[in-house]
Amino acid sequence: MSISLRLLAFTLVPLILFTGTTLADDFTQKDQDRWQKEYMSVVEKGRALWVSPKLGTNGVSCAQCHPNGANTHPETYPKFQQQLGRVIPLRDMINWCILNPLEGEELNPYDPRMVAMEAYLAHERKGVPMAPGKH
Ligand code: HEC
Repeated sequence: MSISLRLLAFTLVPLILFTGTTLADDFTQKDQDRWQKEYMSVVEKGRALWVSPKLGTNGVSCAQCHPNGANTHPETYPKFQQQLGRVIPLRDMINWCILNPLEGEELNPYDPRMVAMEAYLAHERKGVPMAPGKH
């Protein structure tokens, strides 16, 4: 194959393939409604955990110190955290507060409750610009 033919193949083939596949705009309203419903149900699970003392052993809830997720700054993660002495993702700080102020047991990062807490905090800060590393 000559160089120009090869060039043509490399540009045209992906173009044809990509236009043939489903683009984001092609998702049906039914899909979108379902995904939004699934997402909101996880956010609501996070909200319920936030205001309950279930994650700890001393009757304290996250909401007592962080009403509506206040001062949790999920948009600043990953960042360096003094308490742990290294750069951490948000879930490590969630666990730090479960362990310390709530005197509870750390959650596995894949625990659905951890996903719910992350979803709830991100949802509360929707629209705030990402600022990883910020203090
Ligand atoms: C008794 C008060 C108290 C409770 C209850 C509490 N926290 Fe905190 N939390 C703090 C304090 C104080 C800090 C600040 C630590 C720092 O950044 O130096 C903090 C920081 C955080 C941060 C990081 C904030 C940032 O700016 O980076 C997150 C995330 C967080 N808490 C989540 C939680 C979660 C999740 C719970 C419930 C499991 C919880 N907290 C319960 C006092 C509390």
